[in-house]
Amino acid sequence: MSTIHIIHENNAWLAPLRASLAAIRAPHEEWFLDRGLIDLTQAPPEGVFYNRMSASSHTRGHHYAPEYAGAVIEWLERHGRVVVNGRRALQLEVSKVAQYEALAAFGIPTPPTVAVVGEEHLRAAAERIGTPLILKHNRAGKGLGVQLVRSTAALDEAIARIAADDDPVALPRDGIWLVQRYIAAPEPFITRAEFIGGRFLYAVRVDTSEGFELCPADACAIPEGTACPAVAPGEKFRIIEGFAHPLIPRMEAFLAANGIGVGAIEFITDADGNTFAYDVNTNTNYNPEAERRAGLSAPDAVARHLVGLLPRAAQAA
Ligand SMILES: Nc1ncnc2c1ncn2[C@@H]1O[C@H](COP(=O)(O)OP(=O)(O)O)[C@@H](O)[C@H]1O
Ligand SMILES: [Mg+2]
Repeated sequence: MSTIHIIHENNAWLAPLRASLAAIRAPHEEWFLDRGLIDLTQAPPEGVFYNRMSASSHTRGHHYAPEYAGAVIEWLERHGRVVVNGRRALQLEVSKVAQYEALAAFGIPTPPTVAVVGEEHLRAAAERIGTPLILKHNRAGKGLGVQLVRSTAALDEAIARIAADDDPVALPRDGIWLVQRYIAAPEPFITRAEFIGGRFLYAVRVDTSEGFELCPADACAIPEGTACPAVAPGEKFRIIEGFAHPLIPRMEAFLAANGIGVGAIEFITDADGNTFAYDVNTNTNYNPEAERRAGLSAPDAVARHLVGLLPRAAQAA
């Protein structure tokens, strides 16, 4: 019988999907890819493969996990396996430049951005973009390293801090910095649209007033019994009922063209009503508290989507 195989490198992020798959008795196996081997002389097992590799794996010590996943996906795809979020999705996961160029091809606006290799070019990039600006990594995740730089003097300070920091995680994993126009929202929130099976499922509004590390899963990773910051008075994550936006059909077309079966797109709308997409997540996490309040479950929808692909995998076998 064919099985669902989940490619990932973070056990904690898998708990909700694990529960949803178990609830419908879906046969599944986890492929935790950090270190190991792939025997290219053998065929991979049958089944559906769901790639949840994350751009931020290096921040958990899994330095080469995305490269490992990339090699595994080459092997799976050459054997005709059904892969949700395949090689192109992985390419986009680890490069915001790749995301922006691919979004542009579908008429989805992104913030003006200059990519920089070599810190000595950051000032020249900032001159092109102007301040305030966002300084971030091309390959990032969880908002780590995202800095709001309000002035040229603040940029000089940021560059000095970068030079003095000996933590390798403070540097972009691929050496590429992004200098990007800061999109000021009239209210401090961003919107994250979730797509499953390539179709829009719901949008969640995320409060940014406490900073840029906005991972929906991590915000909930607090000890049981303590107050959950996600349900605190401000409700950091809130699913917007009946959300509609003219860019959603373009986003669905973008996801389909890039083989992203399950993913999220983050965007900000400025005071003039212009919307800019700035992040594509192919290993999206869902906020359990916000889902409970809205009576929705994206992990259940992902589980059903993956089970629905099993007959196709059996046919390919
Ligand atoms: N150009 C921008 N203008 C305003 N805020 C931004 C911009 N880029 C990033 N941010 C803020 O920083 C957060 C993290 O940035 P993001 O690009 O999503 O990186 P990551 O891939 O680490 O999630 C965003 O959710 C948003 O709140
Ligand atoms: Mg993000």
